[in-house]
Amino acid sequence: MPETPKKGSVVPTGKEISLGDDDFIVSKTDTKGKITYANRIFIRMSGYSERELLGSPHNVIRHPSMPKCVFRLLWKTIMDRREIFAYVVNLSKDGSHYWVAAHVTPEITAGKHVGYISVRRKPNPETVRSVVEPLYAKLLQAERSGGMESGERLLNQILSEKGVSYDAFIQSTL
Ligand SMILES: Cc1cc2nc3c(=O)[nH]c(=O)nc-3n(C[C@H](O)[C@H](O)[C@H](O)COP(=O)(O)O)c2cc1C
Repeated sequence: MPETPKKGSVVPTGKEISLGDDDFIVSKTDTKGKITYANRIFIRMSGYSERELLGSPHNVIRHPSMPKCVFRLLWKTIMDRREIFAYVVNLSKDGSHYWVAAHVTPEITAGKHVGYISVRRKPNPETVRSVVEPLYAKLLQAERSGGMESGERLLNQILSEKGVSYDAFIQSTL
């Protein structure tokens, strides 16, 4: 088995790559978040081989500038068997990054919860620059000084000022 780099071992280069307008990244995981399926575009964008991806935890492509509280919300939602939309910046094997608008849902087969499915597409670059990057930068800063709970509190505060849930907020920008 090829060795898959551990989360945090890839150094971001700052180079951004982007999905094509008609590209979809698809992956499936087991209930713990280990990758069980990756489509060709996922393989291409991540820079890993299919063998490296299958069986690896999905955080193999985690970018350090993603706030922890966003993933906490993601997991809370999908473990509750609900879907979520989220903006995510991912880190490729060569250190480049790419933004996606992700939809994550539980996979239920014959009434049994077998894992999760995510489909991502190219987000509007202007929304990423003007809305998502500034929001995530604030959350990250809060987390760096006061831990994930500070990020979570700030996110809830920003959303309650807007009077929307994270999901409704994200969907309004798609
Ligand atoms: C179906 C599915 C897709 C996911 N897609 C991504 C992804 O594209 N990028 C990412 O960083 N995390 C993704 N995650 C979340 C990871 O499992 C993980 O929570 C996240 O990378 C944060 O890692 P950490 O909790 O180890 O810090 C996904 C989870 C699931 C269940």
